[in-house]
Amino acid sequence: MGITGMIYMFTMVFSLIVLILSSSTVGYDYFQFTQQYQPAVCNSNPTPCNDPPEKLFTVHGLWPSNKNGPDPEKCKNIQMNSQKIGNMAAQLEIIWPNVLNRTDHVGFWEREWLKHGTCGYPTIRDDMHYLKTVIKMYITQKQNVSAILAKAMIQPNGQNRSLVDIENAIRSGTNNMKPKFKCQKNTRTTTELVEVTLCRDRDLTKFINCPQPPQGSRYLCPADVQY
Ligand SMILES: *[C@@H]1O[C@H](CO)[C@@H](O)[C@H](O)[C@H]1NC(C)=O
Ligand SMILES: *[C@@H]1O[C@H](CO)[C@@H](O)[C@H](O)[C@H]1NC(C)=O
Ligand SMILES: *[C@@H]1O[C@H](CO)[C@@H](O)[C@H](O)[C@H]1NC(C)=O
Repeated sequence: MGITGMIYMFTMVFSLIVLILSSSTVGYDYFQFTQQYQPAVCNSNPTPCNDPPEKLFTVHGLWPSNKNGPDPEKCKNIQMNSQKIGNMAAQLEIIWPNVLNRTDHVGFWEREWLKHGTCGYPTIRDDMHYLKTVIKMYITQKQNVSAILAKAMIQPNGQNRSLVDIENAIRSGTNNMKPKFKCQKNTRTTTELVEVTLCRDRDLTKFINCPQPPQGSRYLCPADVQY
């Protein structure tokens, strides 16, 4: 083998090692369970929603995440086998609709699975377990943000409210753990609450305090928000 061959081989082996190391270190240490308020999603989207939104927080996604460092994405190139969704579809369409395009619910679940769900192994075993887990969290374990807020007497009415009141209401349903919020300025002078994220440990067994976005990042909520 000449010197070129040696350099070539060395480069290949080195690249392979880097690849193996990087794929094994992008793990996750907690989950974000993010729910979006449908009217705010429609208002903050450049193209309006085709169908009227419901006044509900529904699922955006369940995302394996890292407290420090980047969140993993698209860990395996395994498409969802949507033929197998079967009778889960009816429940999923209610709790996890594609708010922007209600003819494309399945496409939304497929994209969330590919981008996030594939990174949740071993807590998330496979594509159908990903969907099943979301149903269990939202319905069986009552992590429905609309229901948590309603229980604490906070109903959506499009008014300005103090974020602290909303946070305390959420905390009453999450063992006093801190949620994460996403807001977006709407066309007028008000800022709308768009998303609430509940955080769970890496085994999805308990709530944890959500790591907070850094100061100055986009989507931070002001002291008063519209909901
Ligand atoms: C909505 O989804 C359907 C099915 O995937 C697609 O054909 C259509 O173009 C989408 N409409 C919009 C406005 O994106
Ligand atoms: C979530 O909670 C809201 C408010 O209580 C309720 O209207 C809605 O039906 C709930 N969704 C599910 C699937 O239980
Ligand atoms: C909501 O509160 C913000 C901050 O206090 C204020 O600037 C804004 O004018 C209020 N909007 C309405 C509609 O009351």
